[in-house]
Amino acid sequence: MTTRTAIITGGTTGIGLACAKALIARGHDVAIGARRAGDGAVQSSVRDVLGTEVLLAALDVVDRASVDGFVARVVDALGAPAILVNAAGIYHEAFLHDHSDAAWDDQIEVNLSGAFRMTRAVMPHMIAAGWGRIANIASTAGSKGERGYAAYCASKAGLIGLSKATAVEGAPHGISCIAVSPTWVETPMMENAFDRIATAQGIPRDAARAVIAGSNPQGRIVQPAEVAALVDFFCSDSALGLTNVDIQINAGADW
Ligand SMILES: NC(=O)c1ccc[n+]([C@@H]2O[C@H](COP(=O)([O-])OP(=O)(O)OC[C@H]3O[C@@H](n4cnc5c(N)ncnc54)[C@H](OP(=O)(O)O)[C@@H]3O)[C@@H](O)[C@H]2O)c1
Repeated sequence: MTTRTAIITGGTTGIGLACAKALIARGHDVAIGARRAGDGAVQSSVRDVLGTEVLLAALDVVDRASVDGFVARVVDALGAPAILVNAAGIYHEAFLHDHSDAAWDDQIEVNLSGAFRMTRAVMPHMIAAGWGRIANIASTAGSKGERGYAAYCASKAGLIGLSKATAVEGAPHGISCIAVSPTWVETPMMENAFDRIATAQGIPRDAARAVIAGSNPQGRIVQPAEVAALVDFFCSDSALGLTNVDIQINAGADW
């Protein structure tokens, strides 16, 4: 199979890190970007999980100079990017009547505009090569509303729209784009939810985890490797026609 250069934003933990592991196993050259990617502790934990060295460099997707500089560094070190996984993401819970502008702007900037900036930076390389795959990690929150998650829902709905527009613009150039929308996935991002439920219900964290698992029709929490398996297939040559779609990994849940 062809070895390609893959960029994964937010690849230091959770879903992004699982995608890195899957793409490395396919033989691809992986570059990971995140704000704290230069931190020694982050680097050793990533190395422990991946079992190999990858290009791991600081990236802030809200900053165009950082995005463009990161992509240029990848091109220099590994060659033109053919795969982009936009996994960088954040969430804050807030009710609309009490929502700060900062919490709104942060989530739109990272979850939606960050993916736009990354897409803009890599597309010229993909167009030149006549081949590209862009997987945007969205969420079931992009299709269903939930109290306390307005900005997150809006950012993920926007990301699904961006994915479809990218797919249509990219198709004549051999570039495919999908949104991958999981329900809850057991990652560091979920720690906040465990804490919130534990505090609100006065129960231990283990019990809070069981509440989330029990709220899912499959009675379990989706694992990062399940999301990575879909991204891996999408990036394979078998998935030629797979584009312009939002695929949920929802374990039976709407949210
Ligand atoms: N976990 C879930 O239940 C779930 C469900 C559906 C969708 N998702 C989505 O899946 C994606 C990955 O989530 P996760 O659960 O794996 O979260 P995670 O473990 O918290 O990882 C988030 C990653 O994003 C990076 N990041 C955050 N802000 C960034 C920025 N401005 N620029 C560059 N990198 C940034 C973080 O590193 P730094 O902090 O060092 O920047 C980290 O590597 C997110 O888009 C999330 O919304 C998660």
